[in-house]
Amino acid sequence: MVSGNWDSEWKRQQGEKGGGSRGGALAGLLAGVKGAIGGSALTRGCCSVLRREAGGAPTGLSMLEAGCGTSNIAVVMAGEKARCFQFDISDTALEISKETFRKVSLEACLIKGDLFRMPFEDASFDIVWNVGVLEHFPKDLQDSALREMVRVCRPKGRVVTFNPYARGYIYRAGKWLAEKTGRWTIGYEVPVKTLRPNLKRIDPALKVHEYSFGFLLQFLVFKHLIRKNRAALAVYSALYEAVNLVLAPLNRLPGFLLVTVIERER
Ligand SMILES: C[S@@+](CC[C@H](N)C(=O)[O-])C[C@H]1O[C@@H](n2cnc3c(N)ncnc32)[C@H](O)[C@@H]1O
Repeated sequence: MVSGNWDSEWKRQQGEKGGGSRGGALAGLLAGVKGAIGGSALTRGCCSVLRREAGGAPTGLSMLEAGCGTSNIAVVMAGEKARCFQFDISDTALEISKETFRKVSLEACLIKGDLFRMPFEDASFDIVWNVGVLEHFPKDLQDSALREMVRVCRPKGRVVTFNPYARGYIYRAGKWLAEKTGRWTIGYEVPVKTLRPNLKRIDPALKVHEYSFGFLLQFLVFKHLIRKNRAALAVYSALYEAVNLVLAPLNRLPGFLLVTVIERER
């Protein structure tokens, strides 16, 4: 899914959620529990990385999410008093994001636009980040997006990008299976081994730090195999979240996501 098909993907996912059927009650209960414990395992994992890279709670920091989708992670940052700017090309993603913030009575600045030509001045934000965006683009477009993300981040700020990791073999096996059985709906998605060569092409003076986490988070991919069976999906989701909660330290091991942290010196 290289560009504009995201709007229909978000609409499809909204359609699958709505309508009430078997599994609906369990899914509703799970959503309540996730709300009470700081979001899904994926959200909690990404939030703790963002806090670490921000040097603590993001209070008062301006944070741009470039390709925000649902804004499930940003809303946690907003709850910790970050100033969140939610940017996406899809109207449906921005509507979902608006609802994500409305549900917890918080506000975000929602902006529609293209990652490759962001409508912001240079050095506008303390932190520029995204999760699961760059892997949907070939290398030349990844370079363009990263160049823009670095441009709008202030010197000494951080660009933090999370992408599925090429050495996350469980995730890759699940993705392969979903593709082989015609159940993969996301389209183009190529896991990332490293973004260092991209960043060298952009500016060799950038400081880059990379690491992976989310060993258990890799099992998220198996939802693609059962997504049409709402009852099975609800049970699997509940089990997945419970196992991720109880065995949380396993997520410190490399797995689902590669985190690339970029610092501009000037
Ligand atoms: C996998 S989703 C990100 C999901 C998000 N991390 C979340 O928690 O929901 C990728 C997002 O990037 C957005 N996107 C894709 N191409 C874009 C572009 N050229 N400019 C801005 N956003 C774009 C899509 O609309 C989509 O919402």
